[in-house]
Amino acid sequence: MSKHPDRPVSPEPNSDEDGSLDRALRPQKLEDVIGQNNVRDNLRILIAAARGRSEALDHVLIYGPPGLGKTTLSHVVANEMGSNLRVTSGPAIERQGDLATILTNLRANDILFIDEIHRLNRAVEEILYPAMEDYALDLVIGKGPSARSVRLKLPPITIIGATTRPALITGPLRDRFGAVYRVDFYTLDAMEQIVLRAARMLNAPIDPDAITETAKRARGTPRIALRLLRRVRDYAQVKGTDKEKRISLHLAVQALTLLNVDPLGLDDLDRRVLKALIEKYSGGPVGLETIAAGIAEESDTIMDVVEPYLLQLGFLDRTPRGRVATQRAYEHLGVPYAPRSIQGSLL
Ligand SMILES: Nc1ncnc2c1ncn2[C@@H]1O[C@H](COP(=O)(O)OP(=O)(O)O)[C@@H](O)[C@H]1O
Ligand SMILES: [Mg+2]
Repeated sequence: MSKHPDRPVSPEPNSDEDGSLDRALRPQKLEDVIGQNNVRDNLRILIAAARGRSEALDHVLIYGPPGLGKTTLSHVVANEMGSNLRVTSGPAIERQGDLATILTNLRANDILFIDEIHRLNRAVEEILYPAMEDYALDLVIGKGPSARSVRLKLPPITIIGATTRPALITGPLRDRFGAVYRVDFYTLDAMEQIVLRAARMLNAPIDPDAITETAKRARGTPRIALRLLRRVRDYAQVKGTDKEKRISLHLAVQALTLLNVDPLGLDDLDRRVLKALIEKYSGGPVGLETIAAGIAEESDTIMDVVEPYLLQLGFLDRTPRGRVATQRAYEHLGVPYAPRSIQGSLL
């Protein structure tokens, strides 16, 4: 993702964003969480049950694309449980001892949030198994033939793991999570509510049709919606002619066009991928690596930050023989629909 850190539609924070705005706008309680109804309903029951039994919450794994609220939900869970949340991440825990130190400093009912948990190394992961299963820490003391293993008791704690790559989580680790939830792209309705709520919190007056326009271009991703809203607000601040600098549809469209974010939220990179697929490879099927080489991009970039949204829009199909552009993709780019399959049948 390094090559495109600052796309306006990046689901990851841009380099000029320290996350403070995201944090300020982050819902605190379950009832403030917009969308993700299924996850929210399940969490509500899980939390009520644990509280009813005065037990630590079951371990929770949350997975899904970046920017959809995994970290937010973890904080919400801690707030609802009245628990302390300790935050760390897979790559930050390098050695077994690092995790052992974190674990021994937790108190009863604390929650340890491990972001990017798929990046934990195996040795560290092994410390986590007994901690999750038995609230125990197995330590090896000494070296060589005199080494012995001691088991320390831990208080009842909860691990919440988050990952964008659930397939990379090992079976034994996944099995130790009592609850596994997937966050998905938000509906337009939920996105509109998120933009409206954020605009209110930012004291930015905005017209309903400008809310819809901003929400539509945010790729079903709250983090992108908040960024676009901020840029649109800046634009209205500078170009707006009325005293309150209200964000009108007109100003929102101008601002978003200036950012090269099209009406469906596609930017230059997305369009280059689609164009290459359609124009160079007759709409496919063609391998991802080939497309990547064709536009001098890394295939990881395309897989992580371009493809999920194109699949979501129904612009792209994944077939065993490679990627295929759908009729809707042609229509969006204004190219007559003439994929290889049709061309073949005309010959
Ligand atoms: N359900 C939601 N309702 C309102 N705002 C949300 C919601 N989910 C996420 N956000 C906003 O989007 C930002 C990015 O979400 P975050 O939890 O950091 O995503 P992830 O951890 O999945 O990358 C949050 O800081 C929050 O302000
Ligand atoms: Mg996160």
